[in-house]
Amino acid sequence: MAYQTLIVEIEDYVALIRLNRPEALNALNSQLLGELAEALKSAEENDKVRCIVITGSEKAFAAGADIKEMSEKSFVDMFTSDFFGVEAEAIKRIRKPIIAAVSGYALGGGCELAMMCDFIICAENAKFGQPEINLGVIAGIGGTQRLTRFVGKSKAMDMHLTGRFMDAAEAERSGLVSRVVPNAKLIPEAMAAAQKIAEKSMLAAAAAKEAVNRSYETTMEEGILFERRLFHALFATEDQKEGMAAFLEKREPQFRDK
Ligand code: CAA
Repeated sequence: MAYQTLIVEIEDYVALIRLNRPEALNALNSQLLGELAEALKSAEENDKVRCIVITGSEKAFAAGADIKEMSEKSFVDMFTSDFFGVEAEAIKRIRKPIIAAVSGYALGGGCELAMMCDFIICAENAKFGQPEINLGVIAGIGGTQRLTRFVGKSKAMDMHLTGRFMDAAEAERSGLVSRVVPNAKLIPEAMAAAQKIAEKSMLAAAAAKEAVNRSYETTMEEGILFERRLFHALFATEDQKEGMAAFLEKREPQFRDK
């Protein structure tokens, strides 16, 4: 399918989705978010995709929700269309692993989109921020909740209240990103990580993703029980037999997602 605001390539079982509104630093308007939800759904349904990478341009992952599109909207417009609610839910429903590869600005909704992915790899030039307060609003796609869980209350308050940006080193130090790489290595590193994931059993990968995400939603005891039950359930799969046999036979496993 052809998109107007995205470029999608599939290579070695990885879908690379590039946000492509260079004229607006990839600002997230409803068209882009709608197309992104569509592209993710189609990657989810495609057997040739086992992991997804979302990226932007070198200058901007995404500079936030589209301010031009939002500026004239009323409360009633925002509320009745549940602005960004539908798209955010669609992204959350994807069970395949998603990596955000962030270069340049990841601000407002851009930072929130990166945080909705399963983990973030960023380039040395990355800048994260929740500057909505400068526009007289606050984050609206989960930023107050997710950033706080990533970096803790003090830093999250600092970011949301002052609107300041966080550079790549601070983002790594605070646990917002999993790795920082030189700018030119961002896509190769993210694709290599995605290809490594694509070699695993998708059943185990989906279970790992569900279990880690559950840690945000429940108590430690319930989360550990949830994890243990998923761990037990994976013993019903052929991939568990194959993975353990391959280890014992000193060969690479051939997972079949069964
Ligand atoms: N929405 C719409 N257009 C945007 C945009 C945005 N979020 N961010 C940048 N653009 C546009 C600019 O208007 C400009 O377009 P024109 O050339 O037509 O004027 C173009 O992208 C290039 O931007 P700049 O000239 O401003 O580039 P710069 O290098 O001088 O500055 C920047 C870069 C610091 C990122 C600056 O563009 C900026 O501050 N952008 C806004 C960031 C922001 O406030 N994000 C939060 C949005 S609200 C939100 O996201 C709510 C939510 O949580 C749901």
